[in-house]
Amino acid sequence: MNIIKVITVVIAVLTMVTPLLAEDTNTADDNSNSENTAVSSEANTAPAAPATAQEIASGVCAGCHNADGNSIIPANPILAGQHAEYLSKQLLDFKATENEPAKRNSPVMSAMVATLSQDDMKKLSEYYAQQKMIPSQIEAEAKLLETGKILYHGGNIENGVPACASCHGPKGAGIPPRYPALAGQHAEYTHTQLSLFNTGDRANDNGVMQKVITRMSGSEKRAVSAYIASMRP
Ligand code: HEC
Ligand code: HEC
Repeated sequence: MNIIKVITVVIAVLTMVTPLLAEDTNTADDNSNSENTAVSSEANTAPAAPATAQEIASGVCAGCHNADGNSIIPANPILAGQHAEYLSKQLLDFKATENEPAKRNSPVMSAMVATLSQDDMKKLSEYYAQQKMIPSQIEAEAKLLETGKILYHGGNIENGVPACASCHGPKGAGIPPRYPALAGQHAEYTHTQLSLFNTGDRANDNGVMQKVITRMSGSEKRAVSAYIASMRP
């Protein structure tokens, strides 16, 4: 008998409370956004697993080089498809140590590599090397391209500029591990590097490129940079 009484009371209470419960559910729905935020901020405070190369690339580097290394900003190099050995050498060269300044001088990139371990650098380089390159789409005048083509493949015998092709390959694919691929790179970036080699502000190649470049005129540097951008890997 008692049990039946209890059940009746429970049913009575439930019928009264059900509309309230329904209201509660609605309120919970309205608050669902803030609940989700609470859940994700909890996740953020959990100890983080070491970031993968892809996470670093899309979280830190993408703003300037794009997530897949195909920079669309002509001042920033395209990294996609470049040899991994060359890329990791550059990342290492950007990093200053306690005893030595960075071998390759770039305030932006030195800040970027400051917190990267050698293993991060290796993995990032492998990641970019595996991406398919989307070459520069910026067009140049036919006359400039023609001059650049002659310089790239034959050099300039008069002032002793060697052919770029002898170290960077006839198709601009480079020769790993030492000689970087050039084909399709943004002309603006290439031209900046040629100027930096010329002045000695970039000297992380034991003077190899400096010897090549100091004999080149300004218009030759512009022409060869434009031609390199038009080459297809
Ligand atoms: C704020 C913009 C910016 C960000 C972010 C950035 N870079 Fe760079 N990166 C540059 C610029 C500019 C250069 C060219 C530096 C120079 O003139 O020598 C460069 C050069 C490089 C080079 C040399 C490429 C070559 O062909 O020699 C590598 C490799 C590179 N960046 C990798 C990275 C990686 C990996 C990250 C993320 C950890 C990163 N960058 C983040 C702007 C950026
Ligand atoms: C004797 C061999 C040699 C010749 C010839 C040569 N290069 Fe290079 N070049 C190198 C080496 C080695 C490096 C890599 C330097 C480093 O490790 O940082 C390089 C790097 C470069 C880079 C930097 C690439 C980047 O992504 O930052 C550019 C641009 C370049 N060369 C353009 C040229 C052009 C243009 C010519 C022809 C006028 C030329 N090179 C001829 C050996 C050569």
